[in-house]
Amino acid sequence: MATQSNSQQKPDTNGAKLEDLTADNLTQHVINISSNINNERVKFIFSKLIQHAHDFIRETDIQRDEWEASWQFLTEVGKASHPDRQEMILLSDVLGISALVDIINSRQTPGSTESSVLGPFHNEAHLFENGDSISSNGAGETMLIRGTVRDLRGNPVKAALLDIWETNGNGKYDMQDPEKDGPDCRGKFYSGEDGSFYINGVRPVDYPVPYDGPVGVLLDLLNRQAYRPAHIHFVIAHPSYEPLTTALYDRESPRLVLDPVFGAKTSLTEDIVWSEDLEMAKKHNTKPFVRKVDGQDRTGFWLLEHDFILADRQAVKQRKTHD
Ligand code: BEZ
Ligand code: FE
Repeated sequence: MATQSNSQQKPDTNGAKLEDLTADNLTQHVINISSNINNERVKFIFSKLIQHAHDFIRETDIQRDEWEASWQFLTEVGKASHPDRQEMILLSDVLGISALVDIINSRQTPGSTESSVLGPFHNEAHLFENGDSISSNGAGETMLIRGTVRDLRGNPVKAALLDIWETNGNGKYDMQDPEKDGPDCRGKFYSGEDGSFYINGVRPVDYPVPYDGPVGVLLDLLNRQAYRPAHIHFVIAHPSYEPLTTALYDRESPRLVLDPVFGAKTSLTEDIVWSEDLEMAKKHNTKPFVRKVDGQDRTGFWLLEHDFILADRQAVKQRKTHD
């Protein structure tokens, strides 16, 4: 026999009488009627949601046509959302909500690498050896990414799994590129015995978040630009350490302060420098290319260096129990 859901149960009014609802007493009434549950966390979250949503309506004195436009907009966001196009998440991103959830959830152990937004373009990737290139021929200008994974005491972390992804030089992830039917500009690497890694990819460029849907209309309405500052994503995992989802940002990008999803942080910005150290290129299997520097043809490659610091799981557990 089907069990009765709460919404079908016999009403228990607890002796309360019908009261005429006004802009002043409606909020508390909705909270009261939604609080007859044992789950304190759900009760707390919904009482706050109702309170803040009602305050928002009162403070902004929302008009009927504005409310209707809001629902029409949210309906469009819902219609545009599917597994390959996360418009709902994008809305949360451009309103700074995803960044806020990330910030309050990853109050990190001091000294460890800061986190940054995951974004919708993380996907399965092949496992590579250090020195392999994650980018197909012609995907962009060669860049060597190298550094060391360490713990909070400065010790190297060997066999950390670095999962990395970036756009090609045209600002497209492989998933957005109709010409790509497999992974490109993404790959997984293990750090070596000394915690070091060296990965060949391409120099990232500023690229837009998807703006051909309702969230793009919202960005236009708010007179905001859609381009993220050039970056490379990383998820770094090791059984003894807290997993880290982060990204490195090109310090030269003019859009660092205009990031539409608020992921860029000063500690995650790095210089991407032009190197003509061909010995280094050889050692790391990097393919130099020719580029005009001050009107002269020069042979070299882009270089991005960064060390990642992981917090061990024990330190994070202890901090959480003391918070
Ligand atoms: C990204 O960096 O891949 C991204 C993050 C949030 C929204 C869209 C894209
Ligand atoms: Fe990205």
